[in-house]
Amino acid sequence: MSIIASNFKTNHTRKSTASFVQEVNIFLESNEISSEVYLFPSSTSLNSFQTVSNLTLGAQNAYATQNGSFTGEIGSLQLDEFSIKTILIGHSERRHVLGESQEEIAKKYAFYKELGYKIIYCIGEPLEVKETGLEKTLEYVYEQFVGIDTNYENLILAYEPVWAIGTGVTATNDDITKVHSAIKSKIDKPLLYGGSVKVNNVREICALDGVDGALIGTASWIVEDFKQIIDSTKDL
Ligand code: PGA
Repeated sequence: MSIIASNFKTNHTRKSTASFVQEVNIFLESNEISSEVYLFPSSTSLNSFQTVSNLTLGAQNAYATQNGSFTGEIGSLQLDEFSIKTILIGHSERRHVLGESQEEIAKKYAFYKELGYKIIYCIGEPLEVKETGLEKTLEYVYEQFVGIDTNYENLILAYEPVWAIGTGVTATNDDITKVHSAIKSKIDKPLLYGGSVKVNNVREICALDGVDGALIGTASWIVEDFKQIIDSTKDL
């Protein structure tokens, strides 16, 4: 069964998020689709949404704290208010644009693991590493597991090559299967692919060996497209 996740990043308002959630919810319910679907809206758009059991709302980010003095951050108390128990950790934009170190990421992981959160943990190499070959790519990716308990029961992994995120350049099926089978041989967890997944390639990607679903940014922000993505992978 496919796992399909939408990362809104810095898109959608509180209002448009609410109607997006409602539409996806109705779509899943009325078509009796049992795929595991996750939505990660901006933190200002989180709410106590009533959804079917296979639609889950999560946080794109939060600080490793319940509360405190961390200007601009949110903590677990703000997520408790909306019964959020799912979080993205290690996303490439947090690592490379916002400068989160592996140490900070591991701390965040440990904190939210302790609280029993479902964690979608992202890994992936930049272009200059990819260009040095598969072995170096895997070495780089394995470094992103330092300090991470990969036996954690509520863990989903997402392989997202940095060069494929938001660029329109999807990794080839060959790239994806090689990296996925290497990761899977070490870590027995659901593994999503992310990076320029589109309406017209999501099915092919999700059907690849070692791919358990997709984490999608750009192509998921229009609800009709996202519904199509869910529909085209529902039987995988
Ligand atoms: P993209 O983003 O689909 O826009 O490439 C994927 C992600 O960052 O999760």
